Amino acid sequence: MEIKKICILGAGLMGNGIAQVCAQAGYEVALRDIEQRFVDGGMNTIRKNLSRDAEKGKISPQQMNEILERLHPTLDIKEAAADADVVVEVVIEVMDVKKKVYAELETIVPPHCLFFTNTSGLSITEMAAVTGRPDRFIGTHFFNPVPVMRLLEIIRGHQTSDETLDAARAWGKRIGKDVITVKEAPAFVVNRILCTMLNEAFFVLDEGLASAEDIDKGMVLGCNHPIGPLALADLVGNETLLRVIEGLHRELGDKYRPAPILRKLVRAGNFGRKSGRGVYDYGK
Ligand code: CAA
Repeated sequence: MEIKKICILGAGLMGNGIAQVCAQAGYEVALRDIEQRFVDGGMNTIRKNLSRDAEKGKISPQQMNEILERLHPTLDIKEAAADADVVVEVVIEVMDVKKKVYAELETIVPPHCLFFTNTSGLSITEMAAVTGRPDRFIGTHFFNPVPVMRLLEIIRGHQTSDETLDAARAWGKRIGKDVITVKEAPAFVVNRILCTMLNEAFFVLDEGLASAEDIDKGMVLGCNHPIGPLALADLVGNETLLRVIEGLHRELGDKYRPAPILRKLVRAGNFGRKSGRGVYDYGK
């Protein structure tokens, strides 16, 4: 099946990055969110990223305009999805919300449309079960910042067909990602390992073993990580991290208990870079 038009649901941190790489690869992309300020925020981020690439000479001004012309921001889910070959769903990491979105989508999209979910760790099979197309449903997990990070983790649900897996892998390659294919399990492969490490960094902080700066410095200089675990939590979003850890805790037991200080930060609205404050203060 040839993919021409892609509908991205959710213009936030991950959604706008996925929209950008799809438009850069030549796809027509509808970028939909539920409020104008979210759509505008997503488009502004894409414009900023492309302008930076143009300034560095990575793309020409003409290419930048062509990429922007392929992006169609909207609030209307019908306009966005009615003729989509693929919907990439990037809505909030709450199973009931995602299920509602899929139930609505099912009444809008054409029969051949594939559903790709960018969940950080929720069950692909459970979401697919509320649609009439569990065979055409698959997990496509991106990493932040999407235009920079090379990996696409593809997760097959219980009923995902070979054709859908092949289509998702080919799409991932075309948008410039290296693909790994993993079995469905809580948080899949990368987040099971990564988020557990980030949670441990919060326990270390909570126990007062070192300052946030020294914990991060330790992992950057001692392990060659590009960024320390607490700074990375701020980049990912502490509320997203907490949801992943809570999912692991629920499904796999006490080993994955969320660190109390992570919960406190989220309760305080200190989500990280996106809210201006997380472990670190990013000012305004
Ligand atoms: N969007 C687009 N491009 C960006 C960007 C963004 N948000 N942030 C940085 N870049 C680009 C810069 O323009 C720069 O490009 P050039 O090489 O062309 O100059 C390049 O990335 C490097 O950026 P910087 O020099 O500003 O900064 P850096 O070297 O410190 O790199 C970083 C920044 C790429 C974010 C780096 O710190 C890094 O790799 N961090 C780890 C990121 C990571 O682990 N991500 C996974 C998170 S887990 C996840 O996302 C999954 C989940 O479900 C929770």
